[in-house]
Amino acid sequence: MTILLTGGTGKSASPLAKLLLNANIPVLLATRSGSVPAPFRGVRFDWLDPSTYRLPFETDSTIDRIYLIAPPVLDMFPPMKAFIDVAIEKGVKRFVLMSAALLEAGGQAMGKVHEYLHSREVEYCALRPSWFFDNLILHYSDHIRKNNEIVNAAGSGAIGWISTDDIADVAFKALTDPVIAHKNPIMVGPELFTYAQIAEIMSDVLGRKITHKNVSADEFKAVMVERGMPEDYAAVMSFMDVSIAQGAEEQAFRKADFVGSRSLRDFIKTHKDAPEWKSAM
Ligand SMILES: NC(=O)c1ccc[n+]([C@@H]2O[C@H](COP(=O)([O-])OP(=O)(O)OC[C@H]3O[C@@H](n4cnc5c(N)ncnc54)[C@H](OP(=O)(O)O)[C@@H]3O)[C@@H](O)[C@H]2O)c1
Repeated sequence: MTILLTGGTGKSASPLAKLLLNANIPVLLATRSGSVPAPFRGVRFDWLDPSTYRLPFETDSTIDRIYLIAPPVLDMFPPMKAFIDVAIEKGVKRFVLMSAALLEAGGQAMGKVHEYLHSREVEYCALRPSWFFDNLILHYSDHIRKNNEIVNAAGSGAIGWISTDDIADVAFKALTDPVIAHKNPIMVGPELFTYAQIAEIMSDVLGRKITHKNVSADEFKAVMVERGMPEDYAAVMSFMDVSIAQGAEEQAFRKADFVGSRSLRDFIKTHKDAPEWKSAM
């Protein structure tokens, strides 16, 4: 029986794939190109191309559980529903969906997928993590490199930053336990940090002064569009920063069902020499 990981080489699926491999559980990684690092098996799969939806099941007819990473488009529900329907028809019994701490079942984005899974006769878990450590490298590095600044609209809102290794641990259990322990766990890391506090840690670890520059939601949206993000997606992301500023992630931290153990400071230390953070000044 095989587990299919969509977003197969992404941030959370990569450590999850390693956990499954180490446990000798057959795993198949879906990516748009179909190519994946050895020793994994890969399959071509594109959420935005329905002609690829059956390829995983043609590659391995024993897929019975799927890890769902949404495509980076605002209206992800139609393609995800269509693929979930194909998967159920092919005998898939369990889905583990990557949602987000602030997304309730039936709400926006993955919230709709969560609600759909609930409406079907399948086992499911909707993971609801807070923000990933990796964002500091992937989303903020351009300004860190150029101006030693973390730029966003999150103000002094705190976040319960979480490691994708901690997320992978929970996803592994949700995919492999005989019974899913919690169907929609809010997941956070061990500590709350504002961006100003993160800038202090980064200053300490990288050995140069990094500051947090707070901008308006509109200015932050423009920054993300300049980075190449579609305008509608950037609008939602900047709205999320406003909700962080208003304390929404801090509230999620207070009611979390799972608290990870990996520390943000350790993550920054591990990536201290990352080229993404090297000063270009
Ligand atoms: N970052 C955060 O702080 C955070 C917090 C809470 C929730 N989330 C949610 O987590 C999810 C992202 O999870 P992740 O970070 O583990 O994934 P990820 O690193 O963003 O990786 C997603 C992978 O999906 C693949 N992909 C992109 N477009 C695709 C398409 N059209 N069809 C099929 N595959 C496609 C890409 O691989 P290829 O290019 O190889 O196809 C990419 O590596 C998002 O839904 C996000 O909203 C993120």
